[in-house]
Formats: sequence, C-alpha cells, structure tokens
Amino acid sequence: MVEIVIEKPRFEENPPPLLIMGISESKEYAKYSRHLDFKTVEYLKEILSERIFTGKIGTSLLLPLGSNYKIGKILLVGLGNPDKLTEETARIAAGKIAIKSREINEPNFSIFPIVGEESRYIEAMAEGIFLSLYKFDRYKAGGSESESVNIQKVSILIESENIEEVKKIIEHVKVITDAVNFSRDLGNLPPNDCSPGQLVSQSVAMADRYQIRTTVLERYQMESMGLNGIVSVGKGSNNPPKMLVLEYYGPSAEERPYLLIGKAVTFDTGGISLKPGDKMDEMKYDKCGGCNVIGILRAVAGLRLPIRVIGLVPCVENMPSSSSYRPGDIIKMFNDKTVEVVNTDAEGRIILADAMAYGIKLFNPRLVIDFATLTGASIIALGANVAAMVGTDDDLKSNLKSLSERTGEKIWELPLGEEYHEQIKSHFADIKNIGGRPAGAITAAAFLSNFTDATPWVHLDIAGTAWTQDGTSEKSYNPKGATGFGIRMIAKFFIEESRRNHAA
Ligand code: BES
Ligand code: MG
Ligand code: ZN
Repeated sequence: MVEIVIEKPRFEENPPPLLIMGISESKEYAKYSRHLDFKTVEYLKEILSERIFTGKIGTSLLLPLGSNYKIGKILLVGLGNPDKLTEETARIAAGKIAIKSREINEPNFSIFPIVGEESRYIEAMAEGIFLSLYKFDRYKAGGSESESVNIQKVSILIESENIEEVKKIIEHVKVITDAVNFSRDLGNLPPNDCSPGQLVSQSVAMADRYQIRTTVLERYQMESMGLNGIVSVGKGSNNPPKMLVLEYYGPSAEERPYLLIGKAVTFDTGGISLKPGDKMDEMKYDKCGGCNVIGILRAVAGLRLPIRVIGLVPCVENMPSSSSYRPGDIIKMFNDKTVEVVNTDAEGRIILADAMAYGIKLFNPRLVIDFATLTGASIIALGANVAAMVGTDDDLKSNLKSLSERTGEKIWELPLGEEYHEQIKSHFADIKNIGGRPAGAITAAAFLSNFTDATPWVHLDIAGTAWTQDGTSEKSYNPKGATGFGIRMIAKFFIEESRRNHAA
C-alpha cells in the first residue's frame, strides 16, 4: 500500500534516496536549485545545457549521483511544451514516475510538484500515483508478490505553508482512487468468477463496510414486480439475474436523491443473436457500467458527502440456451411500454430501461445518470478514448463536460432528436430494441429516453473507455484492464453538488 506524504524539502537533514524533478522543454529548474547543494546544481546545469536531457515529453533520465552527493539518485522527467502543462500532464507524469520507480526497485521517492504547487496539480499527481500502481494479478503465480518492489512512500515536496490543506486533498484522492481501483477489481474479474450473484455479493460486502444500504431483488421478485426486461435478458443463463440497489443517505441530506444506473452484463455472448468469436473474451467488461456505479457509491460514502445517492445495478449474463429470450419476443417493460426484441445482442438498453423506470418511480430522483458499455457504434463514432454523452438536461451536460475536462475522462455529446426515434419504431410493439446501423449509439440512447419520464437525464456510453482495448492511447494511470472511467468525474460532480446544496 503506497502512502503519499506532504513535506517541505529539507535535504540537509533528510536527503532522499531518489529525487524526482519534472523538467519542461524550457528546462527551467531554478525554482528547485536553492534546495540542492552547489555540486548537484552544477551537475544538473551541465546535463541540461549539453542537451543530454531536453525535457521532451515521455523521456526520462536517471542520474546516479554516487557517494560524493547527498541525494542518492535524481530522475529527470520530461514534461514537454511548457505552455501546455495541465492537470493531465501532472497525472500522467506522476503515474509514469511511480511505475518507473517500481521498475528500478526503489520503494521510496521524493518528488517536486509537477506543473505547480496549486492544489489541483498536487491532486492530479496523487491520482496518477494511486491509479498507475494498480495491478490485477491475483490469478498469476506469485500473485501480488511478483518480481518488482511495491512502492511504499512518496513524499511530495511543497514550499507553501498550507500543508494541512494539501494533506486533506490527498486523503480525498485516496478515498476516490481506492473506489476506482475497487471498481477495476470487479470489472477485471473473469466471468467464471463473476456471475450476477457473485458480483452482487462482493458489492454488498463492500457496501456493508461503508454504511451503504443494500437490497437485492431476486429473479422471482423482479418477475412479480414487472421488471420483465431484466428477467428476459437474464433467463438464458443458469446464473439468475439480480438487481442490486445501493442507497447512501449522507448526513443532513435533502430528501430527493441522485440516481445512478449502471449496466452490469457479467458476460455478453450476444445471446441467440450470438456474437462472432473474435474478442468475445472482452465482453467480461460488459459489467463495467455497473462496477462504476458501485465505485461511485463507495467514493461518495467514503467522503461522507451530505447528499442522497441511489445506485441501481441490473446484473445479468446474456447467454444462448433453450431458455433464452429470442428475436421476435415482445416484452412488457416495468413502465408498461412494449419492446420488440429484434436482436438479443442489444440487451444492455433493455435492462437499463427497466432499472431506470423502476428507480424513477420508486425514488423520485432529482436527476439520473446512467453508465453503460452500450454500443460498438459509440467506438465507431468517437474512438476508444472519448465516451459518448446523450441527455435531456443542458445544465447537467455542460457541467459534466467541464468536469470531465478536469479529470481527463473525455466525453463528447451526440444529439438526440425525433429522427432517431423514427428508427426504433416497431410494427408490433411500442418500440424495438435496435435501430439499424446508422447512428447506433444515438438510437440506443433514444430507446432509453422512453424510460426516463421528465427526469433530467444523462447517458454515458463508455464502450470505448471502460477498459484498455484496441485504439486506447497509452496512459500511465490506466494500467491494462478495466479503467473505472468516469468515477472521478462523478465524484467531483457530487462534491460540487454538496457544496451548492449547502450554500443555498
Ligand atoms: N456490450 C455490447 C456493446 C459493445 C460492443 C461494447 C463492443 C464494447 C465493445 C452491446 O451489448 C452490444 O452488443 N451492442 C450491439 C448493438 C447492436 C446489436 C445494435 C453492438 O454494438 O454491436
Ligand atoms: Mg450485446
Ligand atoms: Zn452488452
């Protein structure tokens, strides 16, 4: 378990075994030099003026200083163009540094702030460190005791006086990144160890430690309540469907809750409309929307935010069998709308729709946000590094957009209009579950909008961003596997909402 401490640089008394300095292409290091002894400064000057190190982004240079120097080693890390330094620069660089330090078997290091001392940069650095050191290796021989050392202590060296305030920020980052890593753990579980029942029981065990109330709806209950969408999709598997209800009631929270819905298809074969074999293994990640909702609840509860948040996670396994739902079936959904199933591989929208209608009726939320690995079409539209956003509330959309720019979780809005509703009209039922190839990500959202009533709603299609896949750009803080995409953005959203509600 890595610990991050905040302290002032005092190399006379306390020289670090490894000191890390971020250097941009302007090669500015003057601000650090007064903490270093004369000899070290001279050495650095030479390295930089001889262009042995240029500060180019992605590069690094390890300087073993030898016994004549106080500090053991210095690692220079390139930050690139000095005019383009952002929180994301700090997040990615700090993550790379942590990984590098692990590679060179150095469990403790000290680091000067990357980009700057402002709290947002320190926050981003801490995120980069906690998130990049995540590994899912419990199925490998040796498990977590693999070859390299575990990073133990990182000291961030700051000069300003408000060390206490910065420590608080690190504590919050720790709560949030632990929630992200928990979500990653669930997302990365192989489907043979993560049936709907197993996903639910692991989440309930977590919720019990965080004062989150849980209810689990079983198949027969869902049947009698009319949650036929979830039951239909889940009935082809011997692992029965479940609906996990997570309720967090923060201190002095207002009545109306926020509602989050997450798609958790523990494995998506496509069902009777079977998928081709290529990359089908990746459909273990089709539960990531649900895992993210579970992670967000953990973050909100861990921060003890003064709000109410409900998480609904419909969990199913989409399998072909003699008990599967079929193309041609017509399902009467929870809100009494009928859906013609044309393709059993468009299962996510069916389970989300039921959960959404149920949650809105039962909890009367002020708004709804859903997370889902919903369509391959969203990847065709935006690639594997940007999630698609569709929704009915302009304030909420622009709010999330700007938060996502700060957290590095990119989203882009797609339109929703009458023409897309046209595509999902059915001859035999109120709507059908696919709308053809064109605008596939949007017609999926149009389907969902039939189940939101007038509640302000935003849908995030995270098919491309929920795990590292073909086309994912390399980022230190997203190690291979599930990413927990969007959890930090929504945690920030709730932090700001808490402030707003209580200022009002
Ligand atoms: N889980 C998939 C979407 C998906 C595909 C996510 C690839 C990530 C990578 C979803 O259930 C699905 O199968 N969608 C179909 C919809 C189609 C049948 C209209 C798709 O995208 O092909
Ligand atoms: Mg599918
Ligand atoms: Zn799916």
